[in-house]
Amino acid sequence: MTARPHGERTSPGMRLDIVSIFPEYFAPLDVSLIGKARERGTLDVRIHQLRDWTHDVHKTVDDTPYGGGPGMVMKPEVWGEAIDAIIAEGPAVGGVGAPAATPRIIVPTPSGRPFTQEIAQELAAEPWLLFACGRYEGIDSRVMREYGARMRVDELSIGDYVLAGGEVAVLVMVEAIGRLLPGVLGNVHSAVDDSFAPGAMRNLLEGPVYTKPPVWRGHEVPEVLLSGHHGKIARWRRDEALRRTVANRPELAAAIDPETLDKHDRKLLDELAFRVGPEDMAN
Ligand code: ADE
Repeated sequence: MTARPHGERTSPGMRLDIVSIFPEYFAPLDVSLIGKARERGTLDVRIHQLRDWTHDVHKTVDDTPYGGGPGMVMKPEVWGEAIDAIIAEGPAVGGVGAPAATPRIIVPTPSGRPFTQEIAQELAAEPWLLFACGRYEGIDSRVMREYGARMRVDELSIGDYVLAGGEVAVLVMVEAIGRLLPGVLGNVHSAVDDSFAPGAMRNLLEGPVYTKPPVWRGHEVPEVLLSGHHGKIARWRRDEALRRTVANRPELAAAIDPETLDKHDRKLLDELAFRVGPEDMAN
């Protein structure tokens, strides 16, 4: 057995298929953490040109919407052929455990359920994901119904704004999922402190961070961080996290379970004139 650097674990590996009419969008997946994970074989990413499954000279992927209205809708036949062919390639080899016969299909769309850290974690545990990037007004709904009868299909939105297509949303999701795979992040603890990771700081935004020098352009690093007093530092970080969450995401702060607040937290929230927990329905 070859020696591995301390802390690095073997990975079960994940297969990721992405179908798009703009495969060039996915060049960033060659670099950084995801690129390295691909080189190591932790991630088997396969990018496909949807137009390869068309049969006409113009390689048509869209048509006018039934019922009228603006824009174009992506044709079901081409998507059906693409997805069938990718599934027929079979699951990735080299994974641990029983290989999945079918992928979980993800369709990025502003009409989908919100993509959250919780969903990223759920998807990071899957052996095989297939992302279907829609353009124009979206993909004919029968495609989702057809595959939804045979495998899990999720329509997911990365936020309340409309992009020109699903490609950038897939890059966002792949990065959020990829960094959770064992062995992808250099430091195994890096994902633990994430603002939306489960744990004591769950649903609290991370506070400000500092590095050397201790004074930069007259701005000083908060003294407590230089004190070496771990208890005081942890308390200060929690205060800053609470302050930032109240200021930037009051709806997240309001949803904090009051049971998870200590005396000091409650005093700080009082000072900020912020109330946590469900509204008193009697008033
Ligand atoms: N496609 C277009 N807009 C999108 C969004 N906000 N999330 C996911 N996919 C999209």
